Amino acid sequence: MKHLIIGATGNIGSRVTQRLVDSGARPSVFVRSANKARALFGDHVDIHTGDLEKPSSSLTNALAGVDGIFLLTDGSDLEKRDRAVSFAARHAGVRHVVKLSTLDVRTGIGTGPWHARGEDAIRGSGVAFTFIQAAGFMSNALGWSESIRREGVLRSSTGWGKIAFIHPDDIAAVATVALTTRDHDGQALVITGRKALSYGEMAATIGRAIGKPVGFEEISDRQAYTDAVEWAGKGPYVDALVDIWRAVREGRLDTVTDGVKRVTGREPIAFAQWAAENAASFQ
Ligand SMILES: NC(=O)c1ccc[n+]([C@@H]2O[C@H](COP(=O)([O-])OP(=O)(O)OC[C@H]3O[C@@H](n4cnc5c(N)ncnc54)[C@H](OP(=O)(O)O)[C@@H]3O)[C@@H](O)[C@H]2O)c1
Repeated sequence: MKHLIIGATGNIGSRVTQRLVDSGARPSVFVRSANKARALFGDHVDIHTGDLEKPSSSLTNALAGVDGIFLLTDGSDLEKRDRAVSFAARHAGVRHVVKLSTLDVRTGIGTGPWHARGEDAIRGSGVAFTFIQAAGFMSNALGWSESIRREGVLRSSTGWGKIAFIHPDDIAAVATVALTTRDHDGQALVITGRKALSYGEMAATIGRAIGKPVGFEEISDRQAYTDAVEWAGKGPYVDALVDIWRAVREGRLDTVTDGVKRVTGREPIAFAQWAAENAASFQ
């Protein structure tokens, strides 16, 4: 079976691509930068260059002979790219699209409405689909590294609310199973980490991984917004982040599911393991 990975140079897409390569397959990747793809995967993938923002024949060429697509899109207008890819896929005879979505499709929080529109677009194309409705990523915690390194503290507006962050490798593992089997066609797989933790508990876990205490300080929504605008700029993304952090504080995002276990047969990776793997980023 031939698979095409869209978003292959990013956090999750690179892991899905690597898993396919490790299994002996030769996936195709649709990327903006061939150099970036070559640096990641060497000669083990077929590289198609193009930009989903600029529709061209490059996507059509990339879809030729493909059985399944891993589709990762981002931004408040992501449904445009989900629609373009899924309709082109249907037209090209692609059997199946696996979309990385979010658990927040179910709550309407944060980026949930963006991905809900994307899921609708894919349903409308008629192509078979699997939606990976993932909880927040453990790798989001890398955004805490500067204040932890400099001051030994994590500041957030999440209070003592909890969320079950998921390891990026678990998301990639579930996506790869969805892509390479027919077992989850037509399904939305809701996947989370194994345990909901507060940001204070995660700060303490990082502290144990680096052998130094890491404190937690609660800040207001207004302060969280101001801080986020500094690194991300004003716009729908920062609005979505503040909405997510508020929902965590109010206990609306503490869902834990057995999705990873059901799909992969093993327990999700614990936050303590992620912290140990990434300790160097916090030291
Ligand atoms: N973070 C969370 O907690 C969370 C939770 C649930 C769901 N999600 C969803 O997960 C997704 C983000 O995943 P990620 O962290 O793996 O993303 P990422 O690391 O930012 O990777 C984004 C990928 O998309 C590619 N890309 C961006 N614009 C493109 C375009 N116009 N044409 C072709 N390729 C393009 C990027 O290519 P370049 O290398 O060229 O930039 C990169 O490969 C989003 O849909 C987000 O809503 C996130």
